[in-house]
Amino acid sequence: MKTNRIIHGDALKELQKLPEYVAQAIIADPPYFNVLEDEAWDTQWKTAADYLTWCEAWVAESMRVLRDDGLAFIFGQLGKREHTFIHLMSRLTQQHQFHDLIIWDRAVGYDERRDSFTPQYEMVLVMRKGEKVKFNKDAVRIPYDAKTIETYLKDKRYKDMDARRAHLEAGKFATNILRVPSLKGISKEKCGHPSQKPIDLIEKLVACSTDAGDLVIDPFLGSGTTAAAAKNLNRQWIGIEKDAAYIQISEQRLAAQSTLFN
Ligand SMILES: C[S@@+](CC[C@H](N)C(=O)[O-])C[C@H]1O[C@@H](n2cnc3c(N)ncnc32)[C@H](O)[C@@H]1O
Repeated sequence: MKTNRIIHGDALKELQKLPEYVAQAIIADPPYFNVLEDEAWDTQWKTAADYLTWCEAWVAESMRVLRDDGLAFIFGQLGKREHTFIHLMSRLTQQHQFHDLIIWDRAVGYDERRDSFTPQYEMVLVMRKGEKVKFNKDAVRIPYDAKTIETYLKDKRYKDMDARRAHLEAGKFATNILRVPSLKGISKEKCGHPSQKPIDLIEKLVACSTDAGDLVIDPFLGSGTTAAAAKNLNRQWIGIEKDAAYIQISEQRLAAQSTLFN
């Protein structure tokens, strides 16, 4: 099977053509359903019920192509879509095995409502296929700042201070609340997609769930963030995207990758 390529087509139909048990991780950031009202790709369904049925179909195909010890990460959206996503999570976790619910803390609020607190997070449902999963907890650590390291080093209970310093400098294990600032219009990374995810966030998901050489599949590639993350981390990847203009953005991004993020 050819990897490191973008398939121009419909996620459901293209996933159906892939063999089973090939992907170590699925990273899916699907249309939200009527959140980006100016985007034709987000307003394709007449009703929420139609949207949920469609999601069940592509998720079933994603789980089919997943390896037994693989993980599927499925993005939700903050604000308006949460209500629909809660229904989706309920349905999907009755059909597949729940593994975790990650909160992506976008660090900055999204000013879309006056009648409640400002939304700041997105949910990422994680599902597994088998009982045992590949998960490298060491791959995603959050650094302590210098002041915290100095304070912790004053703790007299530790005798081997070199070992203690090395332990602290490695950082702490990430929690399932991942704080990664969302992309602003002026972000260097931004390349023309209205819902582009930060590469730092996607790299965390790829790094914890796969080893070098493993295959990551993204059924809704958009601007190519998953491909760029996989490429950076020496993973294989396949991305599916329906819109030719976004494919062009991804291709340009991948070609320029070494300069884009420096
Ligand atoms: C939320 S965006 C993904 C953004 C991506 N994670 C990024 O960082 O750029 C969803 C994408 O799905 C694509 N899409 C919508 N319906 C699709 C379908 N049936 N098959 C494949 N792609 C589709 C849209 O064109 C859009 O680019």
